Amino acid sequence: MNGGAAMNGGAALNSGAGVNSGAAVNGPVGVAIVGCGTVSHQYLPTLAGYPDDVRVVVCADLDTGRAATVAKKYGVPLATDVPTAITHPDVELVVNLTVPAAHDAVAADAIAAGRHVYNEKPLSLDRASGARMLGAAAAAGVRVGGAPDTFLAPGLANALRAVNDGTIGTPQSALLIMQSPGPESWHHSPEFLYQHGAGPLFDIGPYYLTALTAAFGPAARVVALGRQAFAERTIGSGPHAGTTFPVEVPTHVTALIEFTNGMIATLVMSFDSPLGRTGLLEITGTAATLALPDPNRHRDHGRILRRGDTGWTELPVAPGDEDPHVARGLGVAEMARAIRAGVPHAASGTRALHVLDLMLSIAESADRGEYVTVASTFDPVTG
Ligand SMILES: NC(=O)c1ccc[n+]([C@@H]2O[C@H](COP(=O)([O-])OP(=O)(O)OC[C@H]3O[C@@H](n4cnc5c(N)ncnc54)[C@H](O)[C@@H]3O)[C@@H](O)[C@H]2O)c1
Repeated sequence: MNGGAAMNGGAALNSGAGVNSGAAVNGPVGVAIVGCGTVSHQYLPTLAGYPDDVRVVVCADLDTGRAATVAKKYGVPLATDVPTAITHPDVELVVNLTVPAAHDAVAADAIAAGRHVYNEKPLSLDRASGARMLGAAAAAGVRVGGAPDTFLAPGLANALRAVNDGTIGTPQSALLIMQSPGPESWHHSPEFLYQHGAGPLFDIGPYYLTALTAAFGPAARVVALGRQAFAERTIGSGPHAGTTFPVEVPTHVTALIEFTNGMIATLVMSFDSPLGRTGLLEITGTAATLALPDPNRHRDHGRILRRGDTGWTELPVAPGDEDPHVARGLGVAEMARAIRAGVPHAASGTRALHVLDLMLSIAESADRGEYVTVASTFDPVTG
């Protein structure tokens, strides 16, 4: 299966897994799923498609009943509390699917136990905790990975290659738009999606900004504005439907981003729009405009419109585009493969920390009304 190996630079890397690092380890990497909510139902079927790379050993959640239900549904042998799951002797990699406010603490516990950790997005809530996570992992000789992994999907990876192989001429600029009425109509407990660490910028922005930085490299500075259309929202489904909750963050954010290579981008991320318009990620070069596939999905392929064309031309469908296991969790399988091979993994903590820094810079610029410099960086080739 396609694991996005093209993103790996091939440099040797310490693949030791802390407590596991002494012995030569082969076979699938033992995984603990921590956080058995909505997104775990996407990860578990994906991971089942990579039996040579990963084996889910245990499920855990603050709500142990939820962990048990999920473990039973997907045939995971054990469900338990979080500390027991993290320190299970067969676990080398903790997949952290908790809410953003818990990412840091769960990752810290995993690293302290000598386990690799792959976090859902955003990596953490602030730069200091993200940097601390990466520092602790380096000191412990374990790895940090981070969602999203959509840039590894064949269609998006194929379109990203077209940005830098001359197909669109010299890249110049990008346009990114995600507008929707917000996720409270379908999510059973959407409160966290309107709290610090989420909102459209931090919840959906990682997909667009990870794809964009994969194309343009690290960002250098941003300027942004934000608004909040509603002070309260109402849960639309599940047992708490009809309950209102407060909105803590801007729900419409617009930003200009300048990259270290001089490229520029215009971004709109909104949960305030009755109009749903998602997946718009266009990159324009001197010779053509490229419409990339929706970076929040693992399907689809790009389209290109060359100067003088009157319509779009579909980019060739990349092999693997229809593979059902090319879905959320792909980055975990790729990370596990890289651990065994001793090469860098693509959906790296460094990449995720840069995207977090970029989003925080956008939020700060919207707050302060001034340009904000993006201090962090990452290597787009090795992650
Ligand atoms: N819902 C989606 O479609 C979706 C898609 C992509 C990414 N994500 C990301 O996945 C993460 C989880 O989102 P979700 O929608 O599954 O949330 P959710 O609320 O449905 O599930 C989160 C789970 O984490 C558990 N949890 C919270 N703190 C914990 C802790 N300290 N230790 C152990 N378990 C803990 C909760 O009990 C809950 O079961 C978020 O970072 C989100 O951004 C969600």
